[in-house]
Amino acid sequence: MSRVAYVNGRYLPYARAAVHVEDRGFQFADGVYEVIGVLGGQLVDADGHVDRLERSLKELRIALPMSRGALTAVMAETVRRNRVRDGLIYIQVTRGAAKREFAFPANTRPTVVAIARSLNLVKAAANAEKGVAAITQPDIRWGRCDIKTVGLLAAALAKQAAKEAGAYEAWLVDRDGYVTEGSSSNAWIVTKDNVLVTRALSKAILGGITRSAILELARRLGMKVEERTFTVAEALEAKEAFVTSTTSFVMPIVSLDGKPIGNGGPGILASKLRAAYEAHAATHAAGGADWQAPFIAP
Ligand code: PDD
Repeated sequence: MSRVAYVNGRYLPYARAAVHVEDRGFQFADGVYEVIGVLGGQLVDADGHVDRLERSLKELRIALPMSRGALTAVMAETVRRNRVRDGLIYIQVTRGAAKREFAFPANTRPTVVAIARSLNLVKAAANAEKGVAAITQPDIRWGRCDIKTVGLLAAALAKQAAKEAGAYEAWLVDRDGYVTEGSSSNAWIVTKDNVLVTRALSKAILGGITRSAILELARRLGMKVEERTFTVAEALEAKEAFVTSTTSFVMPIVSLDGKPIGNGGPGILASKLRAAYEAHAATHAAGGADWQAPFIAP
């Protein structure tokens, strides 16, 4: 079956789906995106993702050229036309196409693109059962990592370094030696006293929708949680480590820079949280979570 992309109001076969050569997303990374999970053909936590997309657009002063309802309908239709049951939808909105000038163009219509694809959940579950490796990399990104922009070069370089080291993810480390987040995930550790630790929301990290879900699920499971910075040394001393994201759910990290974390296998709390998240994702596909996703620093 040939794949179909949504581009500015039309559903087109991939071979004919294109944006302008002077699209500002292409020239300036002047755009934002979301990756939303699809389970059983339904979008997972769609409300939280659309809230975050609207917030990213607002921060960059890009006006979404359609209503929230229309956007959700476009995503659902892109999933349907590509016959995705379990996978993801990628939605990108840029400031649009205009003569290359740094300042914002006047009267340019934003570009909206949506793509859906299937994911191998069986392979993901196998990874989660064994746990995966991570490495550390310096965080060389810009000062507004809270905005989900398509400016992903620093993240791509970090992920490539991880791949070349045979690792699944790169944990980014700020100038003070604290872990910010993964290149495309949020980073968590579990201390010796069974306290879950993840960095607090700020401009230094993306407020993950999965991160919000896990914070809530952890509290409901009676786990202790601290939102604060932690160092690489603290991570190496931790009982467990894991990452969260739309595509990884909860993925146990069993080694960091080649050194084992805890007993070198997936941790108990990470496994419990993954099971809880899977149940949450299955029941909240198509609708919103039954809590407000906090993804903006207070
Ligand atoms: N990445 N931090 C960064 C830098 C990310 O790129 C992502 C998501 C996350 C986790 O956010 P969420 O739980 O909302 O997926 C944290 C997506 C999956 C991507 O770019 O493919």
